[in-house]
Formats: sequence, structure tokens, C-alpha cells
Amino acid sequence: MCGIVGYVGRDEALPIILEGLRRLEYRGYDSAGVAVLDDRLTVVKRAGKLEELVRALEAGDRPSGTVGMGHTRWATHGEPTDANAHPHLDCTGRIAVIHNGIIENFADLRAGLEKRGHTLASETDTECIAHLIEERADGDLADAVRATVKELEGAYAIVVLSLDDPGRIVGAKVSSPLIVGLGDGETLLASDIPAVLSRTTSVIPVEEGQVVEVTADGVAFSDFDGAQLFPQPFEVEWDVARAQKGGFDDFMLKEIHEQPSAIRDTLVGRVRSNGLLSLDELHMDADLFREVNKVFVVACGTAFHAGLVAKYAIEHWTRMPVEIEIASEFRYRDPVLGPDTLTIAVSQSGETIDTLEAARHAARQGSHVLAVTNTVGSSLAREAHGVLYTHAGPEIGVAATKTFATQMVALHLTALYLAQVRVAMYPEEIAEVVEHMNALPQQVKATLSLDGQVQDLAARYQNARDVLFIGRHTGYPAALEGALKLKEISYVHAEGHPAGELKHGPIALVEPGVPVVAIATECHVYPKMLSNIQEVRARGADVIAVATEGDEAIGEIAQHVVFVPRTPELLAPVVVTVPLQLLAYHVAKLRGCDVDKPRNLAKSVTVE
Ligand code: AGP
Repeated sequence: MCGIVGYVGRDEALPIILEGLRRLEYRGYDSAGVAVLDDRLTVVKRAGKLEELVRALEAGDRPSGTVGMGHTRWATHGEPTDANAHPHLDCTGRIAVIHNGIIENFADLRAGLEKRGHTLASETDTECIAHLIEERADGDLADAVRATVKELEGAYAIVVLSLDDPGRIVGAKVSSPLIVGLGDGETLLASDIPAVLSRTTSVIPVEEGQVVEVTADGVAFSDFDGAQLFPQPFEVEWDVARAQKGGFDDFMLKEIHEQPSAIRDTLVGRVRSNGLLSLDELHMDADLFREVNKVFVVACGTAFHAGLVAKYAIEHWTRMPVEIEIASEFRYRDPVLGPDTLTIAVSQSGETIDTLEAARHAARQGSHVLAVTNTVGSSLAREAHGVLYTHAGPEIGVAATKTFATQMVALHLTALYLAQVRVAMYPEEIAEVVEHMNALPQQVKATLSLDGQVQDLAARYQNARDVLFIGRHTGYPAALEGALKLKEISYVHAEGHPAGELKHGPIALVEPGVPVVAIATECHVYPKMLSNIQEVRARGADVIAVATEGDEAIGEIAQHVVFVPRTPELLAPVVVTVPLQLLAYHVAKLRGCDVDKPRNLAKSVTVE
């Protein structure tokens, strides 16, 4: 998500920090800031692009210190404003903090700090950290950081500097990435390797639960209890372009592999310890969710497929009817909307004009509009009555991958929350689903290890003229998404169909050798799915089944089987789409396509 650069060395810190931040710009951000130490602590931060920050720095006294840090923020808590940009300061203005990640318990921490007399200047979760360190400012800075991180829940990489401890910066990591770059008479800290490559190729990744004390002479590692650690550096052999892709060949592949952490970030802070949901962040009255009697979901493309999964979940868990519609159609028909309806608008970018206009139309008709989006401060987020952010981090590949997974997870959370406030499910039932959701990051990670098998399948079918994707129940939206991924990045004709619908027309496309990808994971319509697979086999199709681990019978009827971990059927698309994304990716690569920038497509579609 956010970009972090820290520097302690022999040269002026500011140009090195700005250069590092520029190398992280590709990730997307909405504000930027720096803190530099010399005989004072200078903090400058601005909403907008780095140029805004540079202009502000040029207009003031340029700090010349050799210790400092910089940050590009991709907003999660609070709009992208100057005040919410990092670094954040404590009450004394002597301690500065930058942060990547989400502090789950920040509302409690903030309340406690305010009670104890602190004044907070931003809406961010990050600022709490500076004030918590301030309360321990009497002692050693690293000790203060160690004591503070024990109070934090969530995911974070933080970097701290203090005017009372010039000559070093301190970092800590839980879940969010942080690396140390070892230079000649200088040491850097960064969220990503590209930020340090102009100064050094010698890197040590900071591991979970570690604190690093960085000086010009090197780095000291310890755990949160202060026990010393001695990790070894490695040499980075990537160029900047490859490093920006995390060592992967393309952003799309990187983003497919980021799905476990993206899903974890979507869940963070939304589930209480008793397994029930806490979505106060929606700022929509729980009574409203009790009073509505119908849900509309509007979205386009991949977001529409996530919405379709949500329809199954909301109807099953809340027993409320759900209508889902492609946003560009919804806005031009005359849907029956009113104050007794909830409209969920799903959009990664929050700027897709059709989804935005559909949401505006629903609001004009009196419907309550909830946005599910990845982009804080987007038009959709600003205009909706409530927002649930997906927290997937910036997605650069045009093909939606991690944002699809996190849209589904955010919509599952929404569905369960509706069930919770409407008392449509017992608390134990909700807690049980949540437990399965907590297992998703690990299950998606395990599914990513199928890459080699999927690559072989891609090699076999790369020259197919048509590929059919079929599924039932939540396997149907997964089939639609598999087909969309394949066609949009490899230009192979692909169609997704409900498997039961084949015999009403599409089965005419099946002839010997046509690949049919069948989503056949365990669910209540699994036996019917097997019959549909038999139908295409009987007409000569090559069936690639995506099935549940341990399903031995499927091998009897499908030529190829990709086994994925067992997941409840309403959650299954989160796991099932991973091999479909990989299949599309490898077919596209084998056909020489530019997977990150497929022809004719844009990441954000702001025209009708
Ligand atoms: C899918 O890979 C595409 N990027 C596309 O279908 C996308 O999901 C659609 O354009 C909607 O975009 P949004 O989520 O930003 O609204």
C-alpha cells in the first residue's frame, strides 16, 4: 500500500528520500511527506503528487540533515489531505512516525490518548503511534517503540525518528513489508526494494515481529522483547523495473500472489474477538439495515461478478431478496427503488462512470447507497451514504485480481453484518463463517502453489479457439470471472455459463477438443455439476475440472483436475478463481500478450 523510505548516512537525506519515493510512485498514492532531522525536526507533507511536496519544500527552508524519512500515502483512514498525510507528530513535535498498514484498535487507542490529554491533529490510525511513543519518550527510542508495538493490533510497518535521538531511525514490522538497505556509510529502510536500489543492492528483509535500529554504520535487529537477532543480507540482482514488480515478470502476477495478504487486510479490524462483526466505519445506522427489505447490487465487469457472489450470500444469510444488475443497464431502466432499499455499488476504482451514475440514480430515488471500493476519496466513496473499503492496496495490472478477491471478502462481511443486525443468523453461525473467512488467506496461498500444474495446462491449450467455463451456484460467477480473465488478457474467445444452461444453447459450441473449465468444488449442486460435465464429455470436450481436495471421483470423468482446498460454498469463489487467474495469465504470456496492459482496455472506465 503506502511507500516508506528512511535514510541515515553521510549525504543529505532529502534528495535520497525523494528519489526513493519516486521509485515507489508506480504503486499509486494520494499524498506524500518527509521528515528530516538536523538541529531541528522539519516535517513537510502535501496531498497530491510528489511534485506538490517538492514545491512546498522549495518554498520553505530546505532541511539539509543526513537523517530522515519519507512516505507516500494511499489513504485508508481519512481522506487524502495535508493533515492526514504522513509523517505524523506527537504533541511535542519531537517524534515523527510513518506507517504502512492498518492499526485495527486505533479507535480505542485514540480514545485513551485523548482522555490522557493528547491532542490529535489528523483522522489517521497512524497518529496514535506517535503519541503512544511520546508517553515513553523518557527512555531509549527503540525501547519506546518496542513497548508501543505491544499495544498495536493489526498490520503495520512503522518508521520512527526523534529529535532527542538524532543519528538513528527505528522501524518495526507486523505483516506489512519493510526492508533494510546496507550502503557504504549509510543505511536505508524502505517498504520495497526499488526505493533503495540507487544506493545499494545489499538488502535484509525485516521479518515478522522485529524491530530495527538503523544508523549510518549499519543496523541492529531485535524482537519485540529486545532479544538481539542477526539476519544476513542478500544481494538483489533485479533491475528497478523488475524490483517494482516484486521480482515477478508482471504486475498482474505480483497482484495474484498478493491475494493472501490483501484478503487479510480486508478482514483486519472488522471482526471482534467473539467472531461477530464490527462495521461502525460504515457510518450508516444499524436501524437502517434492519428496516430495508431489498438489496440492489450495481457494478461492472469483475466487480459485477463479485456482486453476484454477494447475491448468493446475502439471500442465504439474511433471507432478503437481492437484485444484481450491470450498472450500465440499471441506470437506464426503471428499477423500483425507495427508502426501504439498500443499493450496494461495487467498484475497485470508485470512478467507473456507469457504477457511479447507477449509485446516483439509486440515491435520487431514496435508496441508501453503500459503496464497496478500493479507493479512499474516490467519487463513489465521497457520494455514497456509507463506504466499506476493500484495502487491497493499489492494483496496477488492468485485469482485476486481488481487488476481486477482496471485493468478495468485503461483500461477505457486509452480508454477515446485515444478518447480524437483522438477527437472521445466530451469533455462533456468524462466528463459524468468520472462522472460515480467516482461513482464506492461507487457503489462497496454498492454491497459488498450483502454478506449475496450471502452467502445463496453459501450454496444452494456448492455441484453443474457444474456451467454455461452466459452474453452478457460486461456481457460476467464478466461471464468468474465469472467462473474463482469459478473454481480456489473452484474446482467446471465452464464455462463462451456468452449467445447467448449456443444453439450452451453448452446448452447440462443444466439439471434440474444445476445452471446458468446470468449477466442480463441493457444494449442494455438485451431483448436478457432474451430470453437466458428462454432457460436454459425451460431445468430445476436454474437461479441466477445479475440484475439492480429496475428491477422487472427479478424476474418472475429467481429463484434468486442479484440486483446491475445501471451502464453504459461499466462500469458495475466493479460492477457486486463483487457478483461473493463473490459467489466463499463462495462456496470455505464451501467446505473447501484454498482460498488464491488454489492448483496448483501461484500468478505470470513466466514459459511458
Ligand atoms: C476486469 O479485469 C476489469 N478490470 C474490469 O472488468 C473492471 O472490473 C470493471 O471495469 C469495473 O471497474 P471498477 O471495479 O473500477 O468499477
